[in-house]
Amino acid sequence: MPLQICPGSTPPPPLGTDVDPTKWHGRIAADTIIEKIGGEREHRRPKRLKKFQHQTSVPPFLLVVLTVANDTQPCRSAVPRLQLARVNVSLSAKRSASAAAGSSGPDIPPTPPPKSPLWRRFLQTLGAVTLVTVVASGGAFWYFTAIEQNPGVQQDFDPEKKTLVILGSGWGATSLLKTLDTEDYNVILISPRNYFLFTPLLPSVAVGTVTSRSIIQPTRYVARHKKRKVSVIEAEATDVDPAKKTVTFSDNSSIQGQLWSTTIPYDYLVYAVGAETQTFNIPGVAEHACFMKELHDAEKFQTQFMDCVESAAFPGQSSEEIDRLLHMVVVGGGPTGIELSGELHDFLTDDLRQWYPELAERIRITLVEALPTVLPSFSKQLIDYTESTFKEAKIDILTKTMVKEIKERSVVVKMPDGTVKEMPVGLVVWAGGNKMRKLTADLMAKLPETQTNRRGLTVDDHLRLKGANSIFALGDCTATQYAPTAQVASQEGAYLARMFNQIAKRDALETKLKALQANPEQAAEADSMLKQITKLEKWRPFHYSHQGSLAYIGSDKAIADLPFFGDGNLATGGVATYLFWRSAYLSSLFSFRNRAFVASDWLKTKLFGRDVSRE
Ligand SMILES: Cc1cc2nc3c(=O)[nH]c(=O)nc-3n(C[C@H](O)[C@H](O)[C@H](O)COP(=O)(O)OP(=O)(O)OC[C@H]3O[C@@H](n4cnc5c(N)ncnc54)[C@H](O)[C@@H]3O)c2cc1C
Ligand SMILES: NC(=O)c1ccc[n+]([C@@H]2O[C@H](COP(=O)([O-])OP(=O)(O)OC[C@H]3O[C@@H](n4cnc5c(N)ncnc54)[C@H](O)[C@@H]3O)[C@@H](O)[C@H]2O)c1
Repeated sequence: MPLQICPGSTPPPPLGTDVDPTKWHGRIAADTIIEKIGGEREHRRPKRLKKFQHQTSVPPFLLVVLTVANDTQPCRSAVPRLQLARVNVSLSAKRSASAAAGSSGPDIPPTPPPKSPLWRRFLQTLGAVTLVTVVASGGAFWYFTAIEQNPGVQQDFDPEKKTLVILGSGWGATSLLKTLDTEDYNVILISPRNYFLFTPLLPSVAVGTVTSRSIIQPTRYVARHKKRKVSVIEAEATDVDPAKKTVTFSDNSSIQGQLWSTTIPYDYLVYAVGAETQTFNIPGVAEHACFMKELHDAEKFQTQFMDCVESAAFPGQSSEEIDRLLHMVVVGGGPTGIELSGELHDFLTDDLRQWYPELAERIRITLVEALPTVLPSFSKQLIDYTESTFKEAKIDILTKTMVKEIKERSVVVKMPDGTVKEMPVGLVVWAGGNKMRKLTADLMAKLPETQTNRRGLTVDDHLRLKGANSIFALGDCTATQYAPTAQVASQEGAYLARMFNQIAKRDALETKLKALQANPEQAAEADSMLKQITKLEKWRPFHYSHQGSLAYIGSDKAIADLPFFGDGNLATGGVATYLFWRSAYLSSLFSFRNRAFVASDWLKTKLFGRDVSRE
């Protein structure tokens, strides 16, 4: 069948012949070409092409390409297709030749450039965007890991500089070290833990949602990234003498060298040793309960919890004993107890049901709280939301219930009506709050006139320990108007770092001033320097900026009390808050390495579930 052309154009050449482009301007009707190319295979034409056919006209070249691209069937009639291609090639060649010769012959109307179909342009854009994203994120990933791995050369200790001793490697101390300009000081950090622990994700470690190594960062890493060397000593401070300005510390780890205890002097001391878990000397707590304060507590919990489950699975175990072994009691309805109960529930529903189908339904979680409500620091709305979420999750909350004793296989509680009840348990987790460390109590005893608060150290507005001008204290070891939280401790640490930068400037000026004062001819200069020093000493007091409180409550839900528009508060809970919780925690992790590890742990847990093997 001969090719037809659009009305008004010159008749087309027969297929397979060369074409004079000056005589043939028209466009071949889409219908005809498709018909020609498709030939007897009309019924197999792709739908998209059929639709396209109804458009008025298309350039032949595009149509050929389109046809070839869309036709996935083996070509039974290849000849018309090839001939059409030749027509097009010939056309293009003549056009180019005419253009090159600068022909003044009749004008050839410019053929509009072939337009890619929408789906192809979309795919091309998507491909380009994907390529750019992959290259950019790969480059950024490489850049950040390279920076973390290659900290560079550091300055040595300078005998002219003052010695700043930091006790602790937690939120307060690490934030201080991170922000401090170490060029101004010789810094020595002493802590029994040679790493920073991201406590908010500790309950997640307890059930294996994230691994323990993901939420810690070696203190030496932080120290190694400072301008001047920082000496990190893994040891426990055993005595602080504010009068002599010395610290005594010992290596109390299981392996010790010949020298394991020593005393060093300091010019300034930052005291950031945190707190320990409050037990109220309740019998059996230290012996039989698990804590949730340190990394080893979370690891111990994981092992003991799985031990309870495996013991319950022991053949022939009595029904009563199975119920006891599978009863988990969490003491303390503060954020630690709530988050742990929520994580435990997730472990139960997401994983244990798969691997212990006969036992999982019998696992019970009971949360015991002495106060009338859980989470007293959160708004009423969020307390109600948490309680209803726990109810749905079948976590029992016993409020106004006081734990009186913990035995090896039971917990003795005083119920709201005053009766005493003994509950059989497999495992008890104690999250009963904070109390000061012995070292803190000893330090307070040395300053009896100023240090009288039983909650912790008393500091002034600049975090200076009352009664000892060269000591600064921050975080959970202090008794201030603020709650003992990571947020407060890290803001205090950053504030102190800025203070120390100013103190260094003042100290340098004071040294110069002494030299000036020795020479009466430089009295005027000395006067102006004195004014500068007085100005530098006007330190701004510490101001805490509350960024809100977040807590995970299990079942992919979190609660958030956020300061909103100044005085107002936004109290929110649910899945969106949970995603916000995750992104907030991910961004506040210490390093890029931590972020990468935790994100991959979350992904692994989603894909493969939590590990139920017991170490
Ligand atoms: C499970 C859990 C979850 C939490 N979640 C959150 C949260 O989501 N948000 C929030 O704001 N807060 C949270 N907190 C509270 C937060 O962790 C603390 O408020 C914060 O750790 C206090 O910081 P710090 O520097 O005072 O003490 P820590 O971070 O406890 O650091 C104390 C440091 O001192 C060291 N040390 C101890 N004894 C000595 C010694 N004798 N000599 C030298 N060093 C010593 C310790 O090894 C440690 O390195 C959570 C706490 C827990 C337990
Ligand atoms: N997501 C978060 O923001 C988060 C998470 C964990 C901890 N923290 C902070 O860390 C600090 C410590 O938190 P926490 O939850 O470990 O302690 P907490 O002091 O907030 O709560 C401990 C709870 O245990 C209860 N309790 C004590 N003894 C008891 C007994 N014998 N029987 C029954 N109940 C008893 C107390 O009434 C109290 O409510 C708090 O300042 C908290 O805000 C914050």
